[in-house]
Amino acid sequence: MVTQKGWLGVQADEVFAIGLLEISEYVCPYRIQTGEVMPQKISKALLVALIPLAAADFSNGRAATPEKLDFNHHIKPLLSDRCFACHGPDEKSRKGKLRLDTKDGAFKALDGGMFVIKPSDAAHSELVRRITSTDPDEMMPPPKSNLALSKHEVELFKRWVQQGAEWKKHWSFIPVEDVKVPSVKNKKWPRNDIDRFVLARLEKEGLRPSKEAPREPRLRRV
Ligand code: HEC
Repeated sequence: MVTQKGWLGVQADEVFAIGLLEISEYVCPYRIQTGEVMPQKISKALLVALIPLAAADFSNGRAATPEKLDFNHHIKPLLSDRCFACHGPDEKSRKGKLRLDTKDGAFKALDGGMFVIKPSDAAHSELVRRITSTDPDEMMPPPKSNLALSKHEVELFKRWVQQGAEWKKHWSFIPVEDVKVPSVKNKKWPRNDIDRFVLARLEKEGLRPSKEAPREPRLRRV
């Protein structure tokens, strides 16, 4: 990661943080016309901006999916999109006497020690067996339905089951909870809790906050 002052006197992690805003500022035609920015500097500015962006992308590969999967965020949309047509609230179109829109249905016991979903036990979860099966008579969604789950989506289901298959009510029914403010190594920098969230993420990515910018650039960013 480039952390030294770049050609334009901006800090790379600062460019990363304000990303495209800065890029658009450097390529702004007005500033080129007025000679404030020379065209040859633009490609450098883009380079300075893109190196950390690209690097951030790589290191974010894992961060894109948070460690603990959330039912409402990761799983429910897949169920309703790929499964509810046949296992949803509509009784008439329900297949295999299986409901996946209710907790009772989704955790129902089946024959032979299997369950539709058995929390923390993918091997005894028929749902996992069906979505990982390659047998056209068994796999879910059925190939004929023209619905499918991507590899990544199958992985999400598996991980969610292994993580305990926590079933949540729709988020709008869940009471608002206090969010835990993350702890940070650099105790001096944050002035408030929002700063602590920002800093915690920067520290996770191995970045340091830039020095506070002078007033004019800050005004421009606004
Ligand atoms: C186009 C209709 C259709 C869609 C969409 C569909 N299924 Fe099914 N599903 C069926 C039918 C029909 C059966 C019963 C026949 C069988 O067991 O294969 C079934 C059976 C099942 C069973 C076995 C139930 C039991 O009692 O053993 C599971 C588990 C299952 N589906 C999960 C899913 C999941 C998860 C999805 C979404 C990713 C899904 N299905 C999408 C039609 C569908």
